Amino acid sequence: MKVVKIKEILQNKNINEACSTQGWVRTFRANRFIALNDGSTLDNLQCVVDFEKLDEKVLKQINTGAAIQMIGKLVESKGSGQNLELQVEKLNIIGISDPKKYPIQPKKHSLEFLRDKAHLRIRTSTFSAVMRVRSALSFAIHKFFNKEGFHYVSTPIITGSDAEGAGEMFHVSTLSRKNPPLKEDGKIDYKQDFFAKETNLTVSGQLEAEAYALGLGEVYTFGPTFRAENSNTTRHLAEFWMIEPEMAFYDLNDNMDLAEKFITNVLKDVLKSCEKDLIFLDERFSKEEISKPQLERSGMGLLEKIKFVIENDFKRLSYTEAIDILKKSKPNKKKKFKFPVNEWGIDLQSEHERFLVEKHFNCPVILFDYPANIKAFYMRRNDDNKTVRAMDILFPGIGEIVGGSQREERLDVLEKRIKEMKIDAKELWWYLDLRRFGSVPHSGFGLGFERLVQFTTGMNNIRDVIPFPRTPQNAEF
Ligand code: 4AD
Ligand code: MG
Repeated sequence: MKVVKIKEILQNKNINEACSTQGWVRTFRANRFIALNDGSTLDNLQCVVDFEKLDEKVLKQINTGAAIQMIGKLVESKGSGQNLELQVEKLNIIGISDPKKYPIQPKKHSLEFLRDKAHLRIRTSTFSAVMRVRSALSFAIHKFFNKEGFHYVSTPIITGSDAEGAGEMFHVSTLSRKNPPLKEDGKIDYKQDFFAKETNLTVSGQLEAEAYALGLGEVYTFGPTFRAENSNTTRHLAEFWMIEPEMAFYDLNDNMDLAEKFITNVLKDVLKSCEKDLIFLDERFSKEEISKPQLERSGMGLLEKIKFVIENDFKRLSYTEAIDILKKSKPNKKKKFKFPVNEWGIDLQSEHERFLVEKHFNCPVILFDYPANIKAFYMRRNDDNKTVRAMDILFPGIGEIVGGSQREERLDVLEKRIKEMKIDAKELWWYLDLRRFGSVPHSGFGLGFERLVQFTTGMNNIRDVIPFPRTPQNAEF
């Protein structure tokens, strides 16, 4: 008999049909009812066994965590919670599990506890729901760009450039760590390294994506990026995934329009494709909210928040306008901000971003035209000579979810900026070439994938929306 997934059984199978399915035991109660889950859907299949007919040895092996194949007939369920259940006629233990040692017990575990069991936490309802939503979001993203006529490009993971100029890179080298070859000046001789130069894991695929946009027109990358920043927060990972579209002939307004359309379309898509999981996560989110102090509650349910973002325009304002609002704000006057807002030019902290989004405007915000001095070298300079055509999208509960800009397409202006920022122009020879041959206005942005998954699933900690998180002091699994 063909093995059928539990999702298929619950959606499309009828009473009296014979079927075979397999999965892992979530619970086993009254020596009779097995809740089986195979990951295809949030719901378990209730399987009913006649323990009197079962061999003692087999009965002992039906434990939480064990993998079992069930063959039987579907019958109407008398219990609450499901319409169908499987009357088991034959049962094969595929993989045993010692119930005393299996860490995922049928009870509520804390997320912290489960983080240490990241290889098994996917067998809980919460993590399977989150990871199905993550998978659906990823598919929705590819679908969106495909429909818009964008080309998907794979940018390198090992690179010689530091796209963000922040110096937060993981080095890649095959040189001996004990005795690396040295140059006369005592520095490491990377000429003898694998790539005959210093290399690192990429912090962003943007620079290479720019090259491809200036030939393919509209492109996007979707890959892992790496940052060796020592940020132990609920929003930072050392290894995270980023979606980076890059478009020729787009100015900053076109860029903001695309980013807004992109996010709302992807959210709409998963609202449909992940309805069941999102309803479950919405309930979970509401329970968590109640346990939070009043001030930290968002006041909206998860589904409500997602719909709100889909239905309402993002508020767009310049950095300068934002600083004015912040300066005059109550928390600033009452010295409630850890970083007071006194002057134009400061970098916005997450407390400021969250004030704008969650207190002042109460909707996603796009800030644009930031001071040049707090942004990367490649952003297009405005005529005021102080600001650049940057834009950040700020989301409720998340803060910055997107960072992007119109790129500096003028060779002389870009060269000057590179010099001012003391960046090695030699490394960027090819990037500068793009401004020598057929340079055009172009723009792009980067969306932090895990932050989008956080927003969509309502998970508070970024470590809980990626299968095996990499953070400072932690690369287990
Ligand atoms: O603002 P960032 O640094 O922008 C760039 O890397 C540009 N090159 C993007 C572009 O224009 N093509 O990063 C973009 C986004 C942030 O808004 C944030 O959502 C996410 O990436 N991000 C992180 N997510 C998780 N952990 C980290 N350490 C992150 N750093 C940035
Ligand atoms: Mg940024």
